[in-house]
Amino acid sequence: MWLISIIVPTYNERENIEELVKRIDASLRKEGLKYEIIIVDDNSPDGTADVAESLSSKYPIKVVRRPGKLGLSSAVLDGFKVAEGDLVVVMDADLQHPPEVIPKLVRTAANGCDIVIASRYVKGGSVGEWSVLRKLISKGATLIARILLPQSRNVKDPMSGFFLFKREVLEGSEGLDPKGFKILLEILVKGRYRSVCEVPFKFGQRFKGQSKLGMKEVINYVIHVLTLSPSYLKFAIVGGIGTIVNLAVLYVERYLLGIPHVIAAPIAIEVSVLNNFTLNDLWTFKTARKGSWVSRLVKFHGSSAAGILTQVGVSIGTYEFIVHNSILAQLLGIIAGFILNYVISKKYVWKAK
Ligand code: GDD
Ligand code: MN
Repeated sequence: MWLISIIVPTYNERENIEELVKRIDASLRKEGLKYEIIIVDDNSPDGTADVAESLSSKYPIKVVRRPGKLGLSSAVLDGFKVAEGDLVVVMDADLQHPPEVIPKLVRTAANGCDIVIASRYVKGGSVGEWSVLRKLISKGATLIARILLPQSRNVKDPMSGFFLFKREVLEGSEGLDPKGFKILLEILVKGRYRSVCEVPFKFGQRFKGQSKLGMKEVINYVIHVLTLSPSYLKFAIVGGIGTIVNLAVLYVERYLLGIPHVIAAPIAIEVSVLNNFTLNDLWTFKTARKGSWVSRLVKFHGSSAAGILTQVGVSIGTYEFIVHNSILAQLLGIIAGFILNYVISKKYVWKAK
């Protein structure tokens, strides 16, 4: 029979622990399921770890004590290190994740799903009584993930903090990022699995205490998703920023300095090329850098020469012969050059996969 490891990260959850453990025990015992609870506590000032420890004489509990508040994701990873189960469940301590859902997660895994998410956004699930603002933030965050992480697109609730995965999903997978709040995204992007399923649940009210998710986590989240996103999306984002730089420089040259389009356009284009090179070098293809940056800069120019010339040609041609509008002409040039650039850069400058 399967052993289920239930990882619960805690920070100041003293008043919730006993209720949580009792409800886990009741709902799993009823189904004849074997489990261990792993409380990963970050030296909570309220003494959560001691409360957990005192319960371990009665229930199968392991307490991992960490020296200070090191974050939710790394707590889950540290819990995983001591987990002995074949199935691993991650849940919050505050009972917003009802323990009664766990047997259903287990049954769904038994039916062949490698990752089972307790989901607020499938039929039958709900977020409970949330303010409009919190609903909006949650939906917005989900949308960002959907756009930037292809692996999260088939999942309705990739932000859930309540989920199960089979041990194999993380075995041998390297480079899991311990920063941030969203360990499920990390697992969806880097884990090894074939199927993901979702089981509905109603996100409850916090039993006691208050939420630890603040503005800092929201900002970290955006950075986290950006680092996880694949190179073509980063490249596209850099292209977007380059476009703004390009048009802004052109605007200044044309309308503030009065430089003619034939001269202003190539200068604006070169500035954006330098901008794009820098961002791609520091971010998009950061891990694929070889040799000196000067040589990459030269190669980048060489490989984007066709794109640059296309931009200059289309921009000046459009301006002179089609519409006498600098910004529009430049924009058309940019679109034409962009597609060409990506393909060539990826293959010849960074050799990224
Ligand atoms: N060890 C440790 N270290 N635990 C932490 C830390 C930390 O730095 N920060 C938070 N926790 C624990 C809390 O004690 C709680 O058990 C759990 O992580 C979730 O924290 P909450 O403060 O209750 O988060 P929330 O309710 O705002 O957010 C929950 O819902 C989100 C979905 O909207 C979490 O489950 C999120 O992961 C989830 O995305
Ligand atoms: Mn909570």
